[in-house]
Amino acid sequence: MKVFNQRESWQSRTGFIFAALGSAVGLGSIWRFPYVVGQNGGGAFILLYLIFLAIIGFPILIAEIVIGKSAQSSPYGAFKSIGKNRFWGFSGKTLIFTGFIISSFYSVIAGWMLGYLIEAIIGHLNFTSTNLALSHFDKLSSSALWSVGWHFVFMALSILILFFGVRKGIEQKSKIMMPLLIVVVIILVVKGLTLPSAMKGIKFLFSPNWKMITPAGILIALGQAFFTLSLGQGTMITYGSYLSKNEDIPKSCFPVVILNTIISLLVGVAVFTIVFSQDLAPQAGPSLIFETIPLVFTKMKGGYFLAIFFFLLVTLAALTSEISALEPFISYLIDEKKWPRKKASIFAGIVAFIIGIPSALSFGLLKRFTILGMNFFDFISFFSINILVPLGGLLAVILVSYVWGIKKAFSHLSVSKEVFFHHRPWMAFYFKICLKYVSPVLIILILLNLLGIF
Ligand code: PHE
Repeated sequence: MKVFNQRESWQSRTGFIFAALGSAVGLGSIWRFPYVVGQNGGGAFILLYLIFLAIIGFPILIAEIVIGKSAQSSPYGAFKSIGKNRFWGFSGKTLIFTGFIISSFYSVIAGWMLGYLIEAIIGHLNFTSTNLALSHFDKLSSSALWSVGWHFVFMALSILILFFGVRKGIEQKSKIMMPLLIVVVIILVVKGLTLPSAMKGIKFLFSPNWKMITPAGILIALGQAFFTLSLGQGTMITYGSYLSKNEDIPKSCFPVVILNTIISLLVGVAVFTIVFSQDLAPQAGPSLIFETIPLVFTKMKGGYFLAIFFFLLVTLAALTSEISALEPFISYLIDEKKWPRKKASIFAGIVAFIIGIPSALSFGLLKRFTILGMNFFDFISFFSINILVPLGGLLAVILVSYVWGIKKAFSHLSVSKEVFFHHRPWMAFYFKICLKYVSPVLIILILLNLLGIF
């Protein structure tokens, strides 16, 4: 007998862990994390970030996964079935929209990484001064053809993976790409640690400079903890929905949080030992990867290969994240509109590519076009990462804690409620306090702060 519309699922727990880790480790961990650490006081910032991961990142990850796993449907279907009214259905759609918008500009930056990988391979990243590195980056990122072109190629690669579905696409490809990524990180860390002045980098990274912590820095640490775990935009709800009903959620999520943290810290070690070895400033900001890193590699023995490894690492990490940002919308089209996966993937890819074009042109042709004083890229990334993502997280937390109820929600955490509560009462207590009180309060504070009210 043919089974119609059978929902896809992960093949194994390891498969889920690699896929979720692939989503978590991305531009946020490799491109953003080192430079926000550099700008906000090194070790002190890291400590704050770790605390936020523990008190809001991990609990909300659990909350999102439990929503998906119990409903076995896209964020829209999941929110609607748990919230039982149109408001929650609409909220689910908002999360899908957020992930989709993020996928559109994420692909632009990821496209630059892919473009830089090719630049590294053809030997174009030889710079003798910061100015040369800078002008090369400006020249490329302002070129419409280069920027839109790589955005297109990157999006096409992502769609190609999604085309194959959950097991053969997302899971299988993550299981190949993530170990490769870990190997590349280790090579770079070993190289970094053997450089002269490596200790300066380590010291910067791990010795807290509390004077550099500002209120804005605290919010950045909180936002980073959120973004790095791909929360607030349907991704983890969707990935949770492919878990089988009897999966133990804390057991499958804990490794994701730990490994993501370790990888981010290792990338920090690699970047800062390399940067300090050449006496360069750690505060370069978003351009750290495109200007400082190639400059450092030019001066180093074996720099040609290191540059290739480095941009390969970032591209792989971005690819496994991009697919996770697109998947909620695709799962919505499959679940709700009954579209076949191939049609849904191509449609999502084409639309996300088109929406991403103004972002790709924001550094050249559309430089002067601004919304609220920001170029299109800055506006859309600010709006989605700083406003829509915390809002999505808040909705998920409220749904679990106050609409569904912690007790009912937790009964889906493991095979059965008894198993969970009897064997791990402290964990249940911890999640409950974090989800009911700590997370909503902190997220509301972030949002009020952004609106200038607090
Ligand atoms: N977690 C990803 C990162 O650190 C960002 C991301 C967010 C990816 C949302 C997909 C969806 O880069």
